[in-house]
Amino acid sequence: MDHIRDPRELVRVGYDLASHAYRGDTFDLEGSGYGYWLGRFTPLLADGARVLDLGCGNGVPVARELVKRFAVTGVDLSGVQIARACQLVPEARFLCADMTAVDFPAGSFDAVVAFYSIFNLPLADQPALIARVAGWLAPGGRFLAMVGKQPWTGVEKDWRGVPGVRMYYSQADVGTYRGWFALAGLTIEAEGSEPRDGNPGYAVLIARRGS
Ligand SMILES: C[S@@+](CC[C@H](N)C(=O)[O-])C[C@H]1O[C@@H](n2cnc3c(N)ncnc32)[C@H](O)[C@@H]1O
Repeated sequence: MDHIRDPRELVRVGYDLASHAYRGDTFDLEGSGYGYWLGRFTPLLADGARVLDLGCGNGVPVARELVKRFAVTGVDLSGVQIARACQLVPEARFLCADMTAVDFPAGSFDAVVAFYSIFNLPLADQPALIARVAGWLAPGGRFLAMVGKQPWTGVEKDWRGVPGVRMYYSQADVGTYRGWFALAGLTIEAEGSEPRDGNPGYAVLIARRGS
């Protein structure tokens, strides 16, 4: 792997340059992994719940779907992703910030989701992020996180077919994530894979903060 001095900067610039290559302005939820996992998660939440979307991208499809029933805040490192999200999902609130540094009052969300974003953080920062999420959740609040199944850290070149764009990933095995959730006081209620028959794919954990 190349020596990466600042993985965050690589990720931020990468999504600024490849935002459109990653995701268009529309997305068909029907039959998708997003549709499946949102379909399992959102029935656990009350109408009007305060939901934080970590690494929200351009807001499509997750924030756009969530905002139909919930009060949504999206956070993303990339200014281009956030500018598109503000246009595509004007009913939600978006912040351009690093999820490992942004500050929210304790207990200010009923749910947090993180689709395909935690793996862009250096591994050393991930247990602290999970603990921060637990602190932001109200008692009984829930966290849906897509995480690694197998350990891997690396950089993809010409990412999403955009010349010169590099993307950084880092993930542990799913057992390590289970341990970090337990340390943060999050009880795993459900676990699965995305894609559901995928190999290796990602693990999806749905967890609840104690009351
Ligand atoms: C693969 S995209 C997923 C976007 C969206 N969650 C989805 O599934 O459509 C990962 C997103 O996480 C964002 N991201 C990565 N590291 C981040 C960080 N430290 N803080 C906030 N956002 C971050 C990236 O800018 C990017 O928009």
